[in-house]
Amino acid sequence: MSTQDIDWEALRQEARAASQRAYAPYSNFPVGAAALVDDGRVVSGCNVENASYGVGLCAECGLVSTLVATGGGKLVAFACVNGLGEPLMPCGRCRQLLYEHAAADCRFDTPNGIKTMDEVLPQAFGPADLEHVRSNS
Ligand code: THU
Repeated sequence: MSTQDIDWEALRQEARAASQRAYAPYSNFPVGAAALVDDGRVVSGCNVENASYGVGLCAECGLVSTLVATGGGKLVAFACVNGLGEPLMPCGRCRQLLYEHAAADCRFDTPNGIKTMDEVLPQAFGPADLEHVRSNS
C-alpha cells in the first residue's frame, strides 16, 4: 500500500477510540495509539498506569504487544492522540519501541505533520548495530 493512500483521519479516530479506554487515574492524561499493519490489520493501544507510577505502560506498548500477539507484521502508518484527540508525538522510549516494528516506509502522524521514521528517530539504534558488532567480532 502506498503511504499516499492512508486514511489518516480514520486512523486518528481509532486512536481516539483507544484513548477512551485508557487507564490513567494518576496523570489524567489519556493516550490512544493506532496503526495500520502491512497486511491491512489495524492495531491499537491505550496507556495503562499503575499505583507504582514507574510501572505504567504507554499506549504504544499496548499497541506493539497487540501487533505481535495478533500475528506480527510491520507498521506502515501510526497515529497517537492526547485526551483532546490531537496528534501526540510518541515519547522517546516509544519511538525506539516502534522503530523495531516499523516498515522502512512507515509514516507517523505528528503535531508537525506526517513524518518518516528517520525524522522521528534519526540515526536509530537497532538490530543492525547488534549484528554489525557480532559479525565483526
Ligand atoms: N504516554 C503515552 O502513553 N505515550 C507517549 O508517547 C507519551 C506518554 C502516557 C504515559 C502516561 O500514562 C501519560 O501519558 C502521562 O505521561
